[in-house]
Amino acid sequence: QTLQMLKEKLDKGLMPQWVVTDPDIYQLERRKIFGQTWQFIGHESELKEPGSYVTRWIANDPVLLVKTNSGEIKAYLNSCTHRGAHLCTADFGNKKTFTCPYHGWSFNLEGELIGVVSGKTVYGEKMKKDEWGLRPIPKVGMYQGLIFASLDHQAMPLEDYLGDMKWYLDILLGRSDGGMEVIGVPQRWTAQANWKMTQENFASDPYHVQTNHRSTVELGISPSDPNFASYGHQIVLGNGHGLSIMTSKTGVSPYKYQTLPESMWPMFERNLSPEQNEILSNATVFVGGIFPNLAFDSPVHGMEGEMCNYLNLRVWRPLGPDKVEIWCWCLVDKAAPEEYKDKAYKAYVGSFGPSGTLEQDDTEVWARIIQVNDALMMEDKELSYNNLNNYLLGEDVFEPVDNFPGPGIAYPSTYTDNLARSIQSRWFELISKDLLDEEEDSQ
Ligand code: FES
Ligand code: FE
Repeated sequence: QTLQMLKEKLDKGLMPQWVVTDPDIYQLERRKIFGQTWQFIGHESELKEPGSYVTRWIANDPVLLVKTNSGEIKAYLNSCTHRGAHLCTADFGNKKTFTCPYHGWSFNLEGELIGVVSGKTVYGEKMKKDEWGLRPIPKVGMYQGLIFASLDHQAMPLEDYLGDMKWYLDILLGRSDGGMEVIGVPQRWTAQANWKMTQENFASDPYHVQTNHRSTVELGISPSDPNFASYGHQIVLGNGHGLSIMTSKTGVSPYKYQTLPESMWPMFERNLSPEQNEILSNATVFVGGIFPNLAFDSPVHGMEGEMCNYLNLRVWRPLGPDKVEIWCWCLVDKAAPEEYKDKAYKAYVGSFGPSGTLEQDDTEVWARIIQVNDALMMEDKELSYNNLNNYLLGEDVFEPVDNFPGPGIAYPSTYTDNLARSIQSRWFELISKDLLDEEEDSQ
């Protein structure tokens, strides 16, 4: 019944407030979303040579991502096969073997158990070491340097999962020879927030920019027109993915190719289709999300006269219904001049790094939503207080355009909730799978 009611409301663009931080909903999300979808776990440039490794998480599942001697990228459950201890506790590094801190079993880059303390003396001749290798994460895939993994053996191929999003990822990640590279290491910090809210904020809510980030316009680190985030298109893709592509009021960005140096433009023309190229040359900001919890933002930022572009990738790792660990990468075109890369990294730190101006604006609001959600009137499952959030932005105002050069359903403004609603409907489809039938059977 609860799910039926939820579905009826969502179909009308209304989201009951209690859903955001409800612990039962969170348990459904853990299993049915984080246990089954593809999750971003790193970028290929983070694993430079054999033995390079990084440790990551898929919600609560620890992942050890390594480059093997043959240059292959492998992902293992970062847990020792002896008694389950967390095997590698460093964030990144380079190793030939991983030795467990508990009883000292060691594993090579291929995940094979190669060392057992006191070996034959205690385990005799019968122990088959090859049965005790690290457990691989069931699925690992890569697209344009982005490495994804899934805990689900039956997960659909990554390329199908990304679907039409690939066309836009090609613009952001495939425009330059050599692709993109991660600058520094990902920064991470925790915030009082719900992962759905943070994903929605990046993926589908340019409407908050005008108010919540107003100060950045006043400080001169965002484009000077306070409505800058509304111009352009919001594009709804399948599977809960989508993005906004912002430009200017006239449709021509004041920052051609997002301020990337002119010397790079012919390369973009060569690597992109004419349609992709047209979009890139006139875009100020690309901001969007890959379901469920990877967001990206490719803006133009920096002090006036020093504006530049970077690509920010973000994973909202849920630590509960009201807490996220934010993982934040800064990427720049490998082919960009070194001096541009430095500038871009500084622009990133000043805007969306943990102490960045834009970041501060958002984290404060997210925490306040969480605090308010503890109120009794917010626990409104019967909707007796009618506590429903509004997802009706742009409804009946914007119709999809038919001449947009890229795939997906494109709306002629970024101020619409069409993408947010499509994310919610994918979310609902996954969390309610099998349960709706059960609800019906039990009635
Ligand atoms: Fe790793 Fe015992 S738990 S060696
Ligand atoms: Fe924001």
